[in-house]
Amino acid sequence: MTSIKKTSKVSAKQIEEYRGQLLSWYDSHQREVPWRVCSGEKPDPYKVWLSEIMCQQTTVQAVKAYYAKFLDLWPTVHDLASAKQEDVMAAWAGLGYYARARNLHKCAQIVSQELGGAFPDTQEELKKLPGIGDYTSAAISAIAFNKPSIVVDGNVERVMARFFAIQEPLPGSKKQLKDLASIFYQDFDHRPGDLAQSFMDLGAGICIPKAPRCMLCPLRENCQGLVQGIAGALPKKDKKKTRPQKYGHIYWIENEQGQVLFHKRPDKGLLGGMVGLPTTVWETTKPAHSKELKILQSVKEPVHHVFTHFDLSLTLHHADTHQSAMREGHFWDNPENQSTALPSVFKKAFAVFHS
Ligand code: ADE
Repeated sequence: MTSIKKTSKVSAKQIEEYRGQLLSWYDSHQREVPWRVCSGEKPDPYKVWLSEIMCQQTTVQAVKAYYAKFLDLWPTVHDLASAKQEDVMAAWAGLGYYARARNLHKCAQIVSQELGGAFPDTQEELKKLPGIGDYTSAAISAIAFNKPSIVVDGNVERVMARFFAIQEPLPGSKKQLKDLASIFYQDFDHRPGDLAQSFMDLGAGICIPKAPRCMLCPLRENCQGLVQGIAGALPKKDKKKTRPQKYGHIYWIENEQGQVLFHKRPDKGLLGGMVGLPTTVWETTKPAHSKELKILQSVKEPVHHVFTHFDLSLTLHHADTHQSAMREGHFWDNPENQSTALPSVFKKAFAVFHS
């Protein structure tokens, strides 16, 4: 018997049975995802890495078009490494969490220039690269290199909490849920990448956060959450702190040639390295306008955007400024040149100004 943290006693034979149920379900029901290869084919670690970085905090559906665009522009890690950073940032615009794009580019340069284009195959070595942490290193080593790394994301946590009816709330239960996931990988070097992806697909399509579709689940017969009638209520979560509300002003400033003033944000910090429209700082009380500006006209309805750690409300203003008042990082350009490369919050404001 394998004893897991008092919460469950599962024999290796039972685990083998559950794994078998899951994998045969995966073989016939897996999602169509562009970076997956047919069985027997070797995955390209560059593609696996790219997809896993893009999938961090982002749905597969949102990632698909970006993944195709990146491979089109940069088919190999060497191509991506030699791209200009601003082109990488522009291609990433709209996908969010922009530190990922900066790290992606840095990582490609290290792999291309220092590792001869070969991604490492162990979690330990992968984690030394920018942008690759616990989850991503596990996913890459399992999917690209068939290593039995324990891949645990939010989906897998939910599946484990339900399957073993774990009542302890997240995030306190993280370690326990990872220990439970690990028993599925123990001594399993046959298809660990498929196992990881089958849990992901189960979590994304069947064992979904609200109203799980238990009748379609390949693990339903042995799911303790279902047996006890509490699957939908799991995993429990500690109350989240409410997100603070922040405010700012955003400006549309045109010169006589019809060009608009843009701002390339500093590399560090939120939306770092991305191009946006000029704004004030974002604060919990409405900030004053920048002194160099003359406000010509204000738009009544502010633009709202939700970031991970705060909600933002930006008031929109048409404004005027003097060339001499140009601040660092600001530049004039035709709006059409920048419109597609803006992060979502700026796209929203841009659409109001430039409609
Ligand atoms: N989410 C993160 N990685 C994924 C993958 N390889 N397949 C499906 N969903 C994912």
